[in-house]
Amino acid sequence: MGPLSPTRTRRLWGPRSLGVALGVFMTIGFALQLWGGPFQKRLPGLQLRQPLAPSLRLAVSSCPPRQRLVFLKTHKSGSSSVLNLLHRYGDRHGLRFALPARYQFGYPRLFQASRVKGYRPQGGGTKPPFHILCHHMRFNLKEVLQVMPSDSFFFSIVRDPAALARSAFSYYKSTSSAFRKAPSLAAFLASPRAFYRPGARGDHYARNLLWFDFGLPFPPEMKTKRGNPHSPRDPNLPQLNILPSGTGPRAHHTLDPNGLFHPAPTVAGGHRQTSSPASLDLGSSSFIQWSLAWLDSVFDLVLVAEYFDESLVLLADALCWGLDDVVGFMHNAQAGGEQGRSAVSNSRLTTEDMQLTARARAWNHLDWALYVHFNRSLWARINQYGLSRLESAVAELRARREALAKHCLVGGEALDPKYITDRRFRPFQFGSGKVLGYVLRSGLSLADQEECERLATPELQYKDKLDAKQFPPTVSLPRKTSRVLSPQTSDHKV
Ligand SMILES: *[C@@H]1O[C@H](CO)[C@@H](O)[C@H](O)[C@H]1NC(C)=O
Repeated sequence: MGPLSPTRTRRLWGPRSLGVALGVFMTIGFALQLWGGPFQKRLPGLQLRQPLAPSLRLAVSSCPPRQRLVFLKTHKSGSSSVLNLLHRYGDRHGLRFALPARYQFGYPRLFQASRVKGYRPQGGGTKPPFHILCHHMRFNLKEVLQVMPSDSFFFSIVRDPAALARSAFSYYKSTSSAFRKAPSLAAFLASPRAFYRPGARGDHYARNLLWFDFGLPFPPEMKTKRGNPHSPRDPNLPQLNILPSGTGPRAHHTLDPNGLFHPAPTVAGGHRQTSSPASLDLGSSSFIQWSLAWLDSVFDLVLVAEYFDESLVLLADALCWGLDDVVGFMHNAQAGGEQGRSAVSNSRLTTEDMQLTARARAWNHLDWALYVHFNRSLWARINQYGLSRLESAVAELRARREALAKHCLVGGEALDPKYITDRRFRPFQFGSGKVLGYVLRSGLSLADQEECERLATPELQYKDKLDAKQFPPTVSLPRKTSRVLSPQTSDHKV
């Protein structure tokens, strides 16, 4: 475990005051990460870089399709379906993926560039850089920018924390010790503190999982409640030396959210802030606002699972892709999960459902803030795009998906894994529910077969396929490795 891993850092929390000091430390580190990227990213003139790979599409539209993409794949938010369309697009256009050795980048530790297969630090020769970075990670901008150009299109997806909690509870029932101890999600949410121990195995799955995946620091007051299995450390942690010496105003301003976004012109102002203890005690709400503003400066678009098709239309528009590029099937869905999702917005909700929803949102209050924020941005964008124009595009997308499903799939929909005997299409089974997948119809033309396979291939198998394409196995290796369903892969979601 690396010295800055979240679990490790979390274990350092001791008495209240130490917690506050460390909260500030994390804020500083977080702010340094910030200064490394998004502002440079927004400099004009960086945007119009020609894609390296030749595009197969005919240039019918006036804008060049974006082909440098960073997708933060959040957990239990519909991100596997987005991954499928990225896999397909990159596969068809011969783009290079920044791939993990297995299936994720050292999660739940923060992303490190060194985890990317084929990554060469600092001018590592003539190899073209990567086009798409999209597998599970805990976001870490500074390291992401070691792998991807700063003018890449950054996007992600969020989901209502109540729906997410339902899905996560079933999926991570045995992975998170808090969930494992709880007889049901309702029981867990009725008294989460009876089950939840900060620093315990898989605790990040049980609370504010989106916030965690976005790599955001946790507010100081949450930190002080965390358990401390290791001996308390001196507040003057050696890690504080990561503050660059002699960086002047930059280092000081980072302590103040307002200073950060409207940097004060004088060093003196900064000094006053660093020496005032009161200013170190960032309020929770300004902490959240500050974090959200930071995300806004990094991410070009954040999709919302509850408005998935609307999000896809906006994505296609932002990337200058065709609608067909974003049409796909749902992946990694759990049996019964859809009912759970629609129940949240259904008017026939029971009192228990409503209570569970309210409690899940309160328990995951950082995720709730994140969700409300990005839901608002999405709808602002929808209005900008034009509501009726969007509605007709969504209708077109759904018709296209339905046609593809009828054409490609047995039954025209997702099936219980017991029907999926072909290993290439059987989704990795994990959690207490069944993960649904697809069976292809027989008698398809060769071209259709190929396209239908792409649409139906689950994420792990697709990753293996892309991996084999980018790193052709050498003759000395055994030719056929059926890694996909071997026990080795069981770390996929853990
Ligand atoms: C998301 O935004 C839409 C449109 O403004 C709104 O109807 C919906 O209630 C919002 N959802 C949440 C959870 O805020």
